[in-house]
Amino acid sequence: MKVFIGYVSLSGNTEKMAVNIKNRMLAVGCDVYMERLDTVEVEALKEFDLSFIGLYTWNQGGLPYEANEFYEELDQANFHGVKVALFGAGDLSQPKPCGAINILSNKMKQCGFAVYDRVLKIDQGAPAHDRVRQCEDFADRALSWGSKRKKWRYLVWNRMQNNHKYRKTAYLLRRVMDDYPIK
Ligand SMILES: Cc1cc2nc3c(=O)[nH]c(=O)nc-3n(C[C@H](O)[C@H](O)[C@H](O)COP(=O)(O)O)c2cc1C
Repeated sequence: MKVFIGYVSLSGNTEKMAVNIKNRMLAVGCDVYMERLDTVEVEALKEFDLSFIGLYTWNQGGLPYEANEFYEELDQANFHGVKVALFGAGDLSQPKPCGAINILSNKMKQCGFAVYDRVLKIDQGAPAHDRVRQCEDFADRALSWGSKRKKWRYLVWNRMQNNHKYRKTAYLLRRVMDDYPIK
């Protein structure tokens, strides 16, 4: 699987999470590309089987300013079926703990992304061993979510494609699935 990890981090907590997720994905044999979100071309997410997007929260549940451009560019293309899992560090005692993740999740859903329904929010003061364990668990679960659907779709399509009775239907189904992916 080709996995992308994009993140923004000011004091390093979200970056550590990104590194933990990266190490886990490498350990299970994925091709991993990691980059800061403020230098990412949003369209590039389409090239990956699964993307992890991480960001911290600022200013009463707001997006960090380094994520603004990424957020605004989301409107400029069709992202139907592009899979993402969201994570970030915050202060879980705040009224809007890790609120930026919710803002980005809503926006990405509106833009057609398939957003993993679990998100990973870790408190700024979490001990390192706890953070690593949670990041690895989250990465494993997200990967399993990301690959299941692909395998299922491929299996159905492949079986139909290999049966002359269903070949035309398979072709049409493939087009429909690409336009309206199952969420
Ligand atoms: C001025 C300020 C405002 C913050 N507002 C929030 C907030 O509304 N919600 C939250 O969960 N965390 C908030 N935080 C905490 C940061 O998100 C937290 O320190 C996080 O670990 C920073 O991530 P980073 O180390 O990746 O930069 C705030 C921090 C500062 C300094």
